[in-house]
Amino acid sequence: MSTDIRHIGIFCSGGDAPGMNAAIRAVVRTATFHDLHVHGIYNGYEGLIDGNIKRLENRDVANIIHKGGTILKTARSERFMTKEGRKMAYETVMAHDLDAIVAIGGNGTLTGAKVFQKEFDIPFMGIPGTIDNDLYGTDYSIGFDTAVNTAVEAVDKIRDTADSHNRLFFIEVMGRHSGYIALYTAIASGAGGVLIPELSADVDDLLKLLKRMMKRKKLFGLVIVAEGNENGSTHEVAKLVSKKLEDYEVKVAVIGHLQRGGSPTSNDRMLASRMGNGAVEGLLKGQSGVMCGIHNNEVIYTPITEAIKKVKAIDKSLLDLAGVLST
Ligand code: F6P
Repeated sequence: MSTDIRHIGIFCSGGDAPGMNAAIRAVVRTATFHDLHVHGIYNGYEGLIDGNIKRLENRDVANIIHKGGTILKTARSERFMTKEGRKMAYETVMAHDLDAIVAIGGNGTLTGAKVFQKEFDIPFMGIPGTIDNDLYGTDYSIGFDTAVNTAVEAVDKIRDTADSHNRLFFIEVMGRHSGYIALYTAIASGAGGVLIPELSADVDDLLKLLKRMMKRKKLFGLVIVAEGNENGSTHEVAKLVSKKLEDYEVKVAVIGHLQRGGSPTSNDRMLASRMGNGAVEGLLKGQSGVMCGIHNNEVIYTPITEAIKKVKAIDKSLLDLAGVLST
């Protein structure tokens, strides 16, 4: 094991995701196990620029494994996109003798890490923390499982109203460029239809499906829409459909940020604990410029350049399954 690393900085960046705290805890406790020091950086890259940083010891991360959000706060930083901002961030790194940085977040977070590492040659380790589950190099990212569970619980409730009133509900879930939350929510809640960015299904395809539903005398319907789908906003899609399917009373529900909060599921806690541990172990073995993910139940390290560039394709068999089960 390399002995060069003594001080590790850690921060969260981008949208919060349930399980980030469990990952912070795992990083701190694994590092302490190896006699390393961890420094918590507050507000993501903003805190790195401003030197908003505090030593984290094992007791500082007690009682957080079950908490949503992030004790380190998070932000999207415009300043870090400038060379001047990154220079200030590097000064913080030097001032606190940081030998390596662990960044928990999604695509934007890792893109920042890639640029910073290239400019200043700081060992960097990414941990995928985003409910969108859109990073290549890991089967799941931290927060996705909790977000899907929250969405499914919401859809179950909406189903009661849809059934009682014979209504067709369009339910919007998060996922700017990714249909993972929508697809998993659709299958797990037994929804009739799903619209995701990866699938170029248009409103006409959806109408065909809904007309088949009507023929079968199905009196209510649930369609899950990823916010990033290509057919416009969920309200626009619902309006188009309601014009052509006058027999249904159409309603829209947007689940929104509810999906980002709440206590992480045990799956997310497991994932976060393993990735946090894997991040520190990886750094100690000389891994740098990589993201620590889990693939086929094994910890793996993927170059950050690949994690952000390669497309994490939607599992085609799941799409087929959604289609078969909605008939
Ligand atoms: O990337 C995670 C995510 O929750 C997306 O699904 C969503 O589009 C976006 O963040 C919302 O960001 P904000 O909280 O800044 O509105």
